[in-house]
Amino acid sequence: MIICSCNVLSDQDVRSAIKAGQTCSISQVYGCLGCSAKCGRCKRTIRRIMDEALCSVGAAPYNGRMQSSKS
Ligand code: FES
Repeated sequence: MIICSCNVLSDQDVRSAIKAGQTCSISQVYGCLGCSAKCGRCKRTIRRIMDEALCSVGAAPYNGRMQSSKS
């Protein structure tokens, strides 16, 4: 499903970028996919996908900074 109409990014594109481990912020997701935020409407969805991906590996949800469940 397309989640960013400005850059024509799918949820799968975002998940792949996160899985590649090169993204610890929303802006890095765009960068990893060779684009940048334009209108910003998709940021909330990207954040949700990042939270889901991090929760699935046991890490704390994304809140603007990469966090680990380890302390
Ligand atoms: S919908 Fe993603 S930047 Fe506009």
